[in-house]
Amino acid sequence: MAETRTAGSAKRKASAGGAAKQKVTYKGLDLGTSRIVSAQMDGDKAVFEEQRNAFVALPYAKMTLATLEQEGILHHVEDDEILVFGNRADEFANIMGGTMRRPMDTGLLNPREPRNLQVIDLAVRALIGPASGDERISYSIPSAPEGREGELTYHEEALREVLEDLGYQAASVNEGLAVVYTALKESDFTGIGMSFGGGLCNVCVSFLGMPVLNFCTTHAGDYIDLKAASVIGETPTTVRQHKESDDFDLGERPATAMDRALSIYYKDVIKTVVEALQQELLETKRMPKLVLPVPVVFAGGTAAVKGFGPLLEAAVREARLPVEISDVRQAKGALNTTAKGSLLAAMLNM
Ligand SMILES: Nc1ncnc2c1ncn2[C@@H]1O[C@H](COP(=O)(O)OP(=O)(O)O)[C@@H](O)[C@H]1O
Ligand SMILES: [Mg+2]
Repeated sequence: MAETRTAGSAKRKASAGGAAKQKVTYKGLDLGTSRIVSAQMDGDKAVFEEQRNAFVALPYAKMTLATLEQEGILHHVEDDEILVFGNRADEFANIMGGTMRRPMDTGLLNPREPRNLQVIDLAVRALIGPASGDERISYSIPSAPEGREGELTYHEEALREVLEDLGYQAASVNEGLAVVYTALKESDFTGIGMSFGGGLCNVCVSFLGMPVLNFCTTHAGDYIDLKAASVIGETPTTVRQHKESDDFDLGERPATAMDRALSIYYKDVIKTVVEALQQELLETKRMPKLVLPVPVVFAGGTAAVKGFGPLLEAAVREARLPVEISDVRQAKGALNTTAKGSLLAAMLNM
């Protein structure tokens, strides 16, 4: 990456001397298992847009196509099918048997979904369109789930190609580090960033903006939906919709079987990530000498539920980590933290 940057800046310097200076624009993209979120600057403000990273394939019919067009629902015609993708694909899930097709699974391109790259390309086009002029984009990639390092290489490169084919200069950024960029400026980018997503929880321990270690765990939002659904005989979609509604509060005593199952699996997610953090901190030989206690900042959809913060804080305090923790807090705008960090990464590094 350092080499690419040197070559890039040399090229930029050369062209900056020329007469026609092209304006450079920067974008950030959070390529998550559940949601794709874009970030770009509008004046001095970052603006975000998101699409669900899921789709359904409907059989082609003129009538269906006309209705989708009338309703402004994102779709793409492919042979004898209409791919309905993005936020409103959810509305068709039940018609298609209760589940949507997912381009990604546990943080990486879903090997069981042949249309994975195609649908991500469609969603990215809907969010930010192709590049016009000199546009540079940073896109988030997870840490490799254990044993899947080779798949991460494919994921990273294949998605880079999608963005380059759209005309962007593209560079990846680790998701945990993106959280650090967004939310740990006050502590000079020193601390622990955690992103609780649908497919994965990504964690980065950073010292002055340098990643000391990063890792992920695979017990995250989708795991909660799947496990909770299976023990109470519901569909994962039903569980997810309840989890995302205002009715659910992790801080309250569970009133129903679904609440109880959700509470148990949320705690499982938190315990898994805190245990992994402890293990990683104990094993690393790269830990610098910290003079001050460091903050933990968390973000992501799975952490958006009411009552999540106190449970995470209790688990972190109880774990007696080998580094001293100052506070455990949620990032502001926690559903856009990774996208904003990706935008910052593009602006800082590209
Ligand atoms: N408002 C909400 N309340 C509770 N859970 C939510 C909310 N929004 C999203 N989620 C859950 O968060 C997860 C997705 O988080 P996100 O950060 O978008 O993940 P990813 O990075 O994997 O796309 C899903 O499991 C989803 O059900
Ligand atoms: Mg995400």
